[in-house]
Amino acid sequence: MFKIIVVDNYDEASSEAFKVMKEEVVGNDKPVLGLATGSTPIGLYKKMQADHKANGTSYKNVVTFNLDEYIGLPKDHDQTYYTFMHENLFDGLDIPESNIHIPVGDSTDVPAECVKYEEAMKEYNIDIQLLGIGANGHIGFNEPGTSFDTLTHIVELKEKTRQDNARFFGSIDDVPTQAITMGISTILKSKKILMVATGENKADAIYGMIKGPISEDCPASALQNHDNVIVIVDKAAASKL
Ligand code: F6R
Repeated sequence: MFKIIVVDNYDEASSEAFKVMKEEVVGNDKPVLGLATGSTPIGLYKKMQADHKANGTSYKNVVTFNLDEYIGLPKDHDQTYYTFMHENLFDGLDIPESNIHIPVGDSTDVPAECVKYEEAMKEYNIDIQLLGIGANGHIGFNEPGTSFDTLTHIVELKEKTRQDNARFFGSIDDVPTQAITMGISTILKSKKILMVATGENKADAIYGMIKGPISEDCPASALQNHDNVIVIVDKAAASKL
C-alpha cells in the first residue's frame, strides 16, 4: 500500500523525508534504519546532520544497515559507499561506529559476507528502509530481471552502469565489476519503506512501481506487495501517475 506525498521540488522532498526519518529516530528506543546512497538522499542526510547539530537529536541508539556496496575496493577508497555514508551522514552524527552496518565489499569471503549480512538484519528487523529508484526501476543494485525472492547477494554490474560510473574512477578499468546488494525479498522484510524520487527521468519508474504490473521487469513494482510504503515525489517524478 502506497502513501504518496507530492511536493514541488527536491528541497521539499528532502524536508518531507526528514520528517518521516526523525519520527522514527525519536519515536523508537532502538531505531533500525535502512539507508541508501546516490544523489537523492543527500538533502535528507544534510537535514539530519543539521538537526543533530542544532537540536541535539541523538543517534546513539540508532542502528543502520546500508543497501549495497561495491566488491573489491578497500573500505577507505573514495568511491566506496562506506566512504560516501561517513562523509555525507555518519561523521556529522553521534552514531557509534559499531551500530553501522554496510556490506564488507573487500571481504575475503564475499558469499559468506552476504549470509552474515542477511542474518544480522534478521536479528535487528529494519524499522524503515530508505530507497531511491533507478530510471529503469532498479532498487538497491537489483536490476530488471532480478527475482523477487532474492536475499543479500552478489551482482555483476552491467557494462552501462560501469561506464556511467567511470567518471568517478581513474578509468573504466578501475570501476568494480561486482557489488553486494540487499535482495528484493530482504527489502520487503522492512516494516516500513520510504521511497524518495525527484526529476522527470524518474517518472516512468515511479509509474511502473505504483501503477504498472507487478513484474521483474520493474524491480520497484515488488513494493506493491508491501503494506506500508511512503512515496515522496516531486511533481516531475509524479507526472505520469
Ligand atoms: C543506492 C542504490 C540505488 C539508488 C538509485 C537512485 O544505495 O542502491 O538503487 O538509490 O540508483 O540513485 P540516485 O539517487 O543517484 O538517482
